[in-house]
Amino acid sequence: MSFSPLPKTFTDICLHPDFIFPRILELGCGDGRFRSILAERDIPSWGLDRFGPEVGTVADVVGDALSPPVAQGSLDFLLAANLLRHLVPADPALGFLVVWLELLKTGGSLFIFEDEPGDVPAGVARYGDLQDVLFRLMPQSRGPLLPVADFKARVSKLGTAVDWEFGLVRNRQTIDAEAVLDLLRQPGEPTGQVGRLMRGIERDGLDPGYYWWARACGVSEGARI
Ligand SMILES: C[S@@+](CC[C@H](N)C(=O)[O-])C[C@H]1O[C@@H](n2cnc3c(N)ncnc32)[C@H](O)[C@@H]1O
Repeated sequence: MSFSPLPKTFTDICLHPDFIFPRILELGCGDGRFRSILAERDIPSWGLDRFGPEVGTVADVVGDALSPPVAQGSLDFLLAANLLRHLVPADPALGFLVVWLELLKTGGSLFIFEDEPGDVPAGVARYGDLQDVLFRLMPQSRGPLLPVADFKARVSKLGTAVDWEFGLVRNRQTIDAEAVLDLLRQPGEPTGQVGRLMRGIERDGLDPGYYWWARACGVSEGARI
């Protein structure tokens, strides 16, 4: 899933024509949907994922986003889109954020993008159900969505000496409900939770709802932790 429109704060910084040869890393880059936004503007980036290109990712580095094999103070820009839901079960206190901030150069930015679960129309609720089913099918590799209020509460306990900026955006990205149904389709009549989800998607469609973003700004030498 992707995010559209992107926050102006994000585009102002990383799509600015003066942002020449930046060192941008996307953690959990997957198949590169988010990196393609940068590539469309000829902005070079590199990606890290726990899986390599042999399973369809665009990872330049195979590694764990909880402890990326990257030199401290080396990055202008660090991105994590649709990734927190995978990391929170292993580190509910979000200690990995401290590790990530250490990777940034002075003045660098960390951006996080996540879907916002909530009290929403039917098509959006089905999107939330889809995330729940994915979580139940793969509990070892992903957790439920993290609402921005929970994220803020956890960040405030971390005590990082950086400022955080937050935003909530109505996601205009479209989702191909038919393609999702094809992925969920199993031989025979679908039953149980997957069957209910499929019938719900057929009835209500899929709508990504809102997404939240967070930016750690004001990163300076010695002020990261
Ligand atoms: C939902 S996909 C998001 C892909 C991409 N960021 C996007 O927005 O299109 C999550 C990706 O994070 C990767 N991932 C999950 N846990 C990870 C970890 N601990 N370290 C590195 N990558 C991880 C998964 O392999 C997957 O490719």
